[in-house]
Amino acid sequence: MMRATSLFLLWVSCVFGAPVSKDRQKLLLISFDGFRWDYDRDVDTPNLDQMAKDGVKAQYVTPPYLTITSPSHFTILTGRYIENHGVIHNMWFNTTTTEKKPYYQSQFVNEWWDNGSLPIWITAQRQGLKAGSLHFPGTASSYQGQVAMVQEVEPLLYNYKNETAWRENSDKVMSWFRDRDLDFVSLYFGEPDGVGHKYGPDSPERREMVRQVDRTVGYIRHSAEHHGLTDQLNVIITADHGMSTVFRNGLVEEITLSKIPGFSFRDLSFHLLDYGPSGMLLPKPGKLDGVYNTLKGAHPHLHVYKKEEMPEHLHYSKNDRILPIILWADPGYVINGYFPVQFNKGEHGYDNQEMDMKPFFRAVGPAFQKNLEVGPFETVNIYPLMCHILGIQPEVNDGHLSVTKHMLVISDSRGSGDEKNHLKNAFTGLAAVAGFLVVTFIAIMSQKMLKRKHKNKRSDSFRDAQSEPVQSSF
Ligand SMILES: *[C@@H]1O[C@H](CO)[C@@H](O)[C@H](O)[C@H]1NC(C)=O
Ligand SMILES: *[C@@H]1O[C@H](CO)[C@@H](O)[C@H](O)[C@H]1NC(C)=O
Ligand SMILES: *[C@@H]1O[C@H](CO)[C@@H](O)[C@H](O)[C@H]1NC(C)=O
Ligand SMILES: [Zn+2]
Repeated sequence: MMRATSLFLLWVSCVFGAPVSKDRQKLLLISFDGFRWDYDRDVDTPNLDQMAKDGVKAQYVTPPYLTITSPSHFTILTGRYIENHGVIHNMWFNTTTTEKKPYYQSQFVNEWWDNGSLPIWITAQRQGLKAGSLHFPGTASSYQGQVAMVQEVEPLLYNYKNETAWRENSDKVMSWFRDRDLDFVSLYFGEPDGVGHKYGPDSPERREMVRQVDRTVGYIRHSAEHHGLTDQLNVIITADHGMSTVFRNGLVEEITLSKIPGFSFRDLSFHLLDYGPSGMLLPKPGKLDGVYNTLKGAHPHLHVYKKEEMPEHLHYSKNDRILPIILWADPGYVINGYFPVQFNKGEHGYDNQEMDMKPFFRAVGPAFQKNLEVGPFETVNIYPLMCHILGIQPEVNDGHLSVTKHMLVISDSRGSGDEKNHLKNAFTGLAAVAGFLVVTFIAIMSQKMLKRKHKNKRSDSFRDAQSEPVQSSF
């Protein structure tokens, strides 16, 4: 009986789990760069509150380490930890030539992004869907020769704060859904990261920017309604990392490598430093242990690791691009090379277990439960959730649908509204039930035969199996 039940369940999930081709649900993924999980606590956010009532709110989410923009966004798009997708830093670099490209220029280095993992746009398009992206990190590159069908990359020196432009971009994305029938779009806003860095996460400027985010969320939801998309469109809003206040000069002992006794830049052939609280070093041949021993324990707030001894939970080790020595600072500190050159009031890039590094997560739409608050989860799990909503087969990834599935409405959310599909579902349902009856019949018959065989050996476990109720929820 038990075996028959599980067979039936397996069969039904195969039959009903298959993607349906028409009138599938759409999905808009939005990132507000650097929106920390608790930014709605000291600001009135009526639109975010309404969205939570109409949908799902997570307490917070855990980003991958390194908690910086390009690597973390690519984790959302691929469901892979950073060591597995290969976009290990905002900056492309070559340790032979010592060349580095800043964040914006690195967006255009295909080999940097296209390192074996496919972002969801490409996977969706290969399975017959239409995908687009506006300003989302990774949009400018191609993957195995393919790009998002509709893409817009911001110009150099873009003003990421302009609310009018935010509304124009939101309208544009809605028209992509309605007029070009896109199934999936990723949309990126560069704030409140900018004000978080410049003024600090506790500043009035940050709070004002959160009000702007909230107005924009309201605008987007109105715009979806205006475009007649509410019944079809799911919206996920999240971010890449949080923000932490940097202790200002004079208050603390700065971490400056050149001041550490015994340390010399001549022992290095390449380094990534002066980039917030993280750094990476490539020592010259024979110098690895010397550099490591000099730095380890040199400052109470500086963590020094050899690549292969990195803590497991960070998943930042198993990639050729990661340099042999990794440094990171405790919250409040940044790592300087020759002398302090960083004067931001807020930073990210810290350990992803720090609460200040956690982003927010909200979701609303026909696939999601209403007025549901859920516990925290890792952002690698957003990818399988998105694939499920879109009804596409995910690539190999580090997330699990089981982590987020409880946010979804019970009934299969995909492919509603199409009469043909209803008929098809009804038919396959009947077929499944008929099949189940056959399997049950066989099971009962064989049990009867077994019973006859062991007439006088009534085992308890056999009775238990017989009285087990048929599970009905799936
Ligand atoms: C780095 O530059 C060297 C010299 O130009 C080149 O041979 C090598 O392929 C480059 N490596 C990467 C990863 O781009
Ligand atoms: C990923 O990039 C590294 C160089 O940084 C290269 O050696 C490797 O072949 C790339 N892998 C894929 C699958 O593109
Ligand atoms: C903001 O964006 C609007 C619409 O794109 C543009 O007309 C305006 O000049 C921008 N303002 C600033 C200050 O950049
Ligand atoms: Zn960011």
